[in-house]
Amino acid sequence: MNTAQPNDVHAAWLPPEAFRALGSRHILVCGEGTLVDTVRHEAAQACARYGGRVDLPPPRPVDARSASGTSYDLVLALIPAGLLPITAAAVEVGYRRRHGPGALDEEGFLLARHAEGTVVLAEAPAGLLYGLFHLVRLGESAFGLTRPMELHRPAMRRRMLDHWDNVDVHPVMGQVERGYAGGSLFWRDGARQADLTRVGAYGRLLAACGVNAVAVNNVNVHTTEMRLLTHRLGDVAAIADVLRPYGIRVHLSVSFAAPVALGGLPTADPLDGGVRAWWADTTRQVYERVPDFGGYVVKADSEGQPGPFAYGRSHADGANVLADALAPFGGVVHWRAFVYHHRQDWRDRSTDRARAACDHFAPLDGQFRDNVILQVKHGPMDFQPREPISPVIAAMPGTRLAVEFQVTQEYTGQQRHVCYLAPWWSEVLRFTPWGDGGPTVADVAAGGSTAGEAAGGGLVAVSNVGDDPFWTGHPLAQANLYAFGRLAWDPRLDPVAVLDEWIQLTFARSTPGGPGPIRRALHEIMDDSWHTYERYTAPLGVGFMVRPGHHYGPDVDGYEYTPWGTYHFADRDGVGVDRTRASGTGFTGQYPPPWRDVYESVERCPDELLLFFHHVPYGHVLRSGSTVIQHIYDTHFAGVEQVAAMRRRWERLAGMVDPGVHARVRELLDEQLRCAQEWRDQINAYFFRKSGVPDAYGRPIP
Ligand code: GCU
Repeated sequence: MNTAQPNDVHAAWLPPEAFRALGSRHILVCGEGTLVDTVRHEAAQACARYGGRVDLPPPRPVDARSASGTSYDLVLALIPAGLLPITAAAVEVGYRRRHGPGALDEEGFLLARHAEGTVVLAEAPAGLLYGLFHLVRLGESAFGLTRPMELHRPAMRRRMLDHWDNVDVHPVMGQVERGYAGGSLFWRDGARQADLTRVGAYGRLLAACGVNAVAVNNVNVHTTEMRLLTHRLGDVAAIADVLRPYGIRVHLSVSFAAPVALGGLPTADPLDGGVRAWWADTTRQVYERVPDFGGYVVKADSEGQPGPFAYGRSHADGANVLADALAPFGGVVHWRAFVYHHRQDWRDRSTDRARAACDHFAPLDGQFRDNVILQVKHGPMDFQPREPISPVIAAMPGTRLAVEFQVTQEYTGQQRHVCYLAPWWSEVLRFTPWGDGGPTVADVAAGGSTAGEAAGGGLVAVSNVGDDPFWTGHPLAQANLYAFGRLAWDPRLDPVAVLDEWIQLTFARSTPGGPGPIRRALHEIMDDSWHTYERYTAPLGVGFMVRPGHHYGPDVDGYEYTPWGTYHFADRDGVGVDRTRASGTGFTGQYPPPWRDVYESVERCPDELLLFFHHVPYGHVLRSGSTVIQHIYDTHFAGVEQVAAMRRRWERLAGMVDPGVHARVRELLDEQLRCAQEWRDQINAYFFRKSGVPDAYGRPIP
């Protein structure tokens, strides 16, 4: 039985056992700098536990054998390195011959395996750190027979997590807005956490999955949080100090009204000279305290946050003033595209929230500074379990775009439900907005291969961690955080293979009797869990139907007559939102071909998005051959059965995983089953009563 103690639970995907292969080796680490020190420290810790040894760089060139006559199993070296053992030097020469200097960039690394040992080379310290964690993932296989030379480089330069953490406990949203894992790692009741040990452990976990930037406060910037930029910079600097050894840069969410609220100026007009000077001066002071500060995140003119509209200015005017202040220091502004009318009249069918981001931002393409990154939610609405991609992603070739995901499971079960989201993100990242063979969404975020040659803004996600002992409330929700980092590093990774990595690191190495049973069980439970969640919630891409406010559990009409713009328009004849050009809001016209025509056509539109784009009668026959109403019944019955099967599968792991983890997941699966049944019954009853069409199989509908 796994004997993991709570501390090991804290270790998530870096339990001590994950370092066994590394820790039993004789290791040489060459290079200098904070991140190389981290590598050396990690290697030394592992060796102290498993009997290996770490050497300092030799004073003169040596063979594969050290001066003491012992072979190096592993050399981790920053190049150009003057004094490398001969095997490592040969790898370096081979690399130079094939690639030339600079190919590894700031974060890449090279891995090679010779008869004498394994070699990891990097041209910058961060690369060495990522190389080390790659070895951890490989385990023993990093030290097997000869491996061909592998070059690893992240697809996205910036792989960032936004924390929606509040400094003060917000009366409605709490310490972490949409947080399902306890309090904040950074803040508590208005103060910075006095002990930042867990922040350090978090940084280590993030580095091990590839994340390199963190925004430490909520995009909704309230009064106390605003002051992080000025009066409370010391708190930001303290967090940055703890994350720096893991290659993670700190970013801050700031309020567009800061010049008024903090600077005492009469205006925050971005074209006002005093305002520009205030941002420039304030930003200079930030860099004095935090020299590697990443930049600002701004939610402007969105859900009540202040922005440039108040002064008759555009979002480009607004973003550029902050960008100019950050430019001398190499910082960036993440300017969010989540801008829409949230006081809409539900009777007005012409206003379409899905259109809003593109309507606001597409006309501004080409007007943003180079260090502005427009941060776009992956879908046009708001992190539903299914949406088409945001048309903004294909509409701004002259702008650096970052795609935003939501790791925190606001609309996907709130970390009470198992919902492994990487298959969903992978689908989005692989989607080709201009049709088969064209660039993918990942290409746009990575930059360089779209119509324009903008640099790309990377991938951002809303974090799902808190001060919960399991980090993420639901222990299995850790996999989402891990997978986000891995997909941001390489969007072509297979999400099931990523899950396998996570299982292997987190559970499998310490499981007596081999990893097989737990691995199989977790794949059965998690691989398809996003589809399962989709089956028992809102049907066919229509979205929402959640309880207003907290967004947990079903309420079909909960948002139907509200000002939020999230409607399904079900009546006795049919359901769905007509977003066609022919008869609806015209949203389909925001896509380039072929999608503008695919989505426009009720016959060609993919089933899973049908109700997002079309209002159809209940008897409409889907591409699958089923009618809409029968599809609703079938998927809701099936979804609940699948959750029941997940629960039974987990039961059988009792005794094989840590008892604390087992108990927590079992309790949560009970809740998931209860909630899935509630969804099934509310959705099925609602549509049965509206349509009057009985289930073809006569199953009970309350
Ligand atoms: C959602 C979420 C809010 C959040 C917002 C955002 O609407 O419910 O809590 O502030 O997204 O992304 O800004």
